[in-house]
Amino acid sequence: MEKLLTFIVLGLVFVSTAESRDYKSYKEQIPYSAINCRKHVAYLTDFGGKGDGVTSNTAAFKAAVDSLSKVASDGGALLVVPPGKWLTGTFSLASHFTLYVHKKAVILASQKESDYPLIDPLPSYGSGRDAPGKRFSSLIVGTNLTDVVVTGGNGTIDGQGEIWWKNFKAKKLKHTRPYLIEILHSTQVQISDLTLTNSPSWHVHPTYCTHVIIERLTILAPVTVPNTDGINPDSCTDTRIRDSYVVSGDDCIAVKSGWDQYGIRYAKPTERLSIRGFTCISPDSAVIALGSEMSGGIRDVRAEGVRALNSQSGIRIKTGAGRGGYVKDIYVRDVEMDTMKYVFWMNGDYGSHPDPGFDPKALPEITNINYRDMVGKNVTIVGSLSGIKGDAFTNICISNVTAELVAEKKKGGKGLLFGDEKAKKLPWSCVDVGGVSSKVTPKACPELVEKEEVNCAFPSDTLAIDEVELKKCFVQA
Ligand SMILES: *[C@@H]1O[C@H](CO)[C@@H](O)[C@H](O)[C@H]1NC(C)=O
Ligand SMILES: *[C@@H]1O[C@H](CO)[C@@H](O)[C@H](O)[C@H]1NC(C)=O
Ligand SMILES: *[C@@H]1O[C@H](CO)[C@@H](O)[C@H](O)[C@H]1NC(C)=O
Ligand SMILES: *[C@@H]1O[C@H](CO)[C@@H](O)[C@H](O)[C@H]1NC(C)=O
Repeated sequence: MEKLLTFIVLGLVFVSTAESRDYKSYKEQIPYSAINCRKHVAYLTDFGGKGDGVTSNTAAFKAAVDSLSKVASDGGALLVVPPGKWLTGTFSLASHFTLYVHKKAVILASQKESDYPLIDPLPSYGSGRDAPGKRFSSLIVGTNLTDVVVTGGNGTIDGQGEIWWKNFKAKKLKHTRPYLIEILHSTQVQISDLTLTNSPSWHVHPTYCTHVIIERLTILAPVTVPNTDGINPDSCTDTRIRDSYVVSGDDCIAVKSGWDQYGIRYAKPTERLSIRGFTCISPDSAVIALGSEMSGGIRDVRAEGVRALNSQSGIRIKTGAGRGGYVKDIYVRDVEMDTMKYVFWMNGDYGSHPDPGFDPKALPEITNINYRDMVGKNVTIVGSLSGIKGDAFTNICISNVTAELVAEKKKGGKGLLFGDEKAKKLPWSCVDVGGVSSKVTPKACPELVEKEEVNCAFPSDTLAIDEVELKKCFVQA
């Protein structure tokens, strides 16, 4: 029986290859980089896919993944999404599987709610973020997988989020919006070499995963739309983010680990996250945010080589009473910023709770936060650091940071600052925080005790995930 099944499966793959001969005309040998190359290759068209931008490919994706998952233990398979516009609702990935989006391919997310099955909220959140209860499945999902790759030649995955943003703003959604890519409980995950755009909500959401590689992503969303975060590692260990570029209406990277009592109970931290070579534009949000959902803890984050333009804040810690958890051992260096409202921002009074069942006595521990070697131009506020009364944020270290403040507006001229805005213009304001500063211009607040010769820490070792080398693979596409 098993032999017969294998025969049928292999037969299917063979027939598939024969059927896709129509594509020969533009097929070329294309190199790509991946954690693993695959033995089998098939094309979405082999499974009835139609790249006309109108026909739904949900069933074709399902048939393809069901079929190709059968060769998982025989070298795995790669599914090519060929040139064209491929409309689809939710579909799942498989283990030892690669989804390859050709440079001239666009995966278009369906705008119909019924194309996104309802699923339970994440256990570490206890509730949907947009509305209580169930949430819509994400467009591309993976659960309990090993060795899964989503890559391409910079092909596009377009979330077509307009309708979702509109309904969210009008408070018309009964459930939480889909994300673009959500991978849960998986290990050896790669998402790379893609253009992701217009997600209904967050773009990339690896959750409860280990060994995650995110590289060379271009993520673009209008800067005026809600919650279109770029990359949100959530309760993941050993993650690297490299050479990516995000323009968004929300945080470019938001590091998370669950929400209040649910996150505390689930207790899965985000640990060992390495970010290198990252560019962000986010006029209303952060370049790198830690939180606000951080109840499972966030520890050992290293970020360097970060560029930011026209963003609200550089590195932001968002938390509050009820969250519990911790944010500690955070290291950031080599950051260049231009046109920033804040360089450093910490809020200990961030509201937003899953339900009234949170414990206001669950206080977060924020400690050992290290920021160094940064320059900022056209900055309004250098540091606005507010801890929690009776739960100060401690061991904050800021060294070798120079910020040029935004030029004063002419007295009586247009755009004069008044009232509130004028008061907020002080370059530093600190409360319920403690630590040291060294070579910071303009001079840091007195809560960060000034020292002559301090270089804030940055680990000299590298993480195992930093060392992973991608293999050079080829696809006929
Ligand atoms: C994934 O694995 C967990 C246990 O590790 C299990 O509870 C869950 O049902 C699995 N989910 C799926 C979709 O297989
Ligand atoms: C993808 O786009 C980036 C930025 O435009 C470019 O540097 C990179 O070479 C492209 N990669 C491929 C495989 O085309
Ligand atoms: C400086 O920042 C302000 C916003 O604070 C912006 O309006 C202005 O265009 C920026 N100037 C330059 C030269 O980038
Ligand atoms: C200070 O930071 C700048 C980058 O902003 C860097 O080029 C320089 O080497 C740093 N100085 C020291 C002493 O580390």
